[in-house]
Amino acid sequence: MSSRDSRLPEVLIPAEDIARRVTELGRKLSADYATVDVGNAGAEELVVLGVLKGAFMFLADLVRAVSIPIVVDFVRAASYGSGRVSSGDVRIEPIAWPYGEGRDVLVVEDVLDTGKTLDAVVRALEGFRPRSVKTLALLRKPEAKWPVDYVGFEIEDRFVVGYGLDDAGKWRQLPYIGVPRDGGERR
Ligand code: IMP
Ligand code: MG
Repeated sequence: MSSRDSRLPEVLIPAEDIARRVTELGRKLSADYATVDVGNAGAEELVVLGVLKGAFMFLADLVRAVSIPIVVDFVRAASYGSGRVSSGDVRIEPIAWPYGEGRDVLVVEDVLDTGKTLDAVVRALEGFRPRSVKTLALLRKPEAKWPVDYVGFEIEDRFVVGYGLDDAGKWRQLPYIGVPRDGGERR
């Protein structure tokens, strides 16, 4: 079998399950941030910062599921190149930050693997002196030690694609999370 099998990946998390979980996460975030004053008189909106490219689809659904005032922005990070094992060398593009100091920030990631990407993004935000920084990952793999605040789904240590996640650029457009036909082995 070719290592980049072109058959549709096997469904791991169906679109309906993702939609249900996104609704739950939206409610939970709205409740949690309501108590920290976001959007109330004098307070500024929560800055929801998606990590590109993988989080683009999740973020689009998530922001429609929250009922608190937010602003949406993105940071671009890359660590994998075209392989399936983290290089450990995370590159964050410079963040344009028109929001000033003292903001509440929620960083939204597609999948938490080693945690190096979220760690790098959170460190890159320090210079903007945020009031709070929380993190949310749609998926978390078992090895992740990084203390993420919100998780959509716990998954096995396999390489997954779809719903924004790619394998060397492929399969981001799938409406579900799937496993490539070669079994999602790491290489
Ligand atoms: P970490 O820095 O090791 O936590 O890896 C997180 C990043 O690696 C994510 O933002 C993804 O871009 C990528 N990644 C990790 N696991 C997968 C996967 O199973 N499929 C696609 N991308 C992944
Ligand atoms: Mg990513």
